[in-house]
Amino acid sequence: MMAQPLSPPPFDGAAYGTADGTVGPNTALAARKLRIGYGGKTVVDDISLTIDKREIVCLLGGSGCGKSTLLRGLAGLGTPQAGSVSFLGAPLLEPHPRAALVFQQPSLLPWLNVEGNVGFGLDFARQPKIERAARKARVHDAIEAVGLGPRMHAYPAQLSGGQAQRVALARALARQPELLFADEPFSALDAVTRSEMQELLVDLVHRWHTAALLVTHDIDEAILVADRILLMAGQPGRIVREWKVAIPRPRHEHSDALVALRYDIVAALKAGVATSAPI
Ligand SMILES: Nc1ncnc2c1ncn2[C@@H]1O[C@H](COP(=O)(O)OP(=O)(O)OP(=O)(O)O)[C@@H](O)[C@H]1O
Ligand SMILES: [Mg+2]
Repeated sequence: MMAQPLSPPPFDGAAYGTADGTVGPNTALAARKLRIGYGGKTVVDDISLTIDKREIVCLLGGSGCGKSTLLRGLAGLGTPQAGSVSFLGAPLLEPHPRAALVFQQPSLLPWLNVEGNVGFGLDFARQPKIERAARKARVHDAIEAVGLGPRMHAYPAQLSGGQAQRVALARALARQPELLFADEPFSALDAVTRSEMQELLVDLVHRWHTAALLVTHDIDEAILVADRILLMAGQPGRIVREWKVAIPRPRHEHSDALVALRYDIVAALKAGVATSAPI
């Protein structure tokens, strides 16, 4: 069962991805029958989905249902027990330079300033070679994009939690990603900073023409940020519901639609849809 969009799609010319792995011309990432686990144990199973270019997908689910495990698998970290992932039309067997990750903790190197942290890793062997000047421009553009131009030379110890997470976002952007994987990137932040960061993420994704897969267990975050929400539940974890969120942005101006969707998601969780058969 799929909920109907509440209003027209939020961006022009782009179709939505799918929750069954059907690949189209606009597909950035596709997973087919993915099963991932640790040792002999299966943690997520039968995951087929696609993420379209420039689409923001939120993976929503309770603690322990396997969201981070799935995100890592979709990012090419680790070997699945079964199934496959393709990224930009090619099989994904290891992390791809055009896919970037942001985690709950910003994981900055304390001995490098903002500029150094954002540029860190751009010279690694797997990254495409870039000229020194172009590299510098990329780093500076990414820092400006997250609003940290004036703090370019600050060190992590001199930054607030929100600023540190902006650096982590800039580090991801400097890779000019086609897809940004983010695993609860704002859950350690206070409510106001978190809200600012959610708006920033949407803005960056739109301006930098990237797609994003955002893992969260916060229903409101998913509703505010996502073009599409996938609900994960069960053991092993599976995708059990999908909502296409076509509420126009800025979304806080459409409180009736937000409340209606929230009610639908909570009802799905309460009714135990989340523990029934996958879609
Ligand atoms: N490296 C690992 N080795 C063994 N088991 C693991 C490992 N990582 C996660 N697990 C197990 O896999 C299951 C799913 O964990 P995962 O971190 O993917 O869940 P999650 O949905 O991201 O949870 P949370 O919302 O708390 O972050 C849990 O039972 C966890 O104990
Ligand atoms: Mg997790």
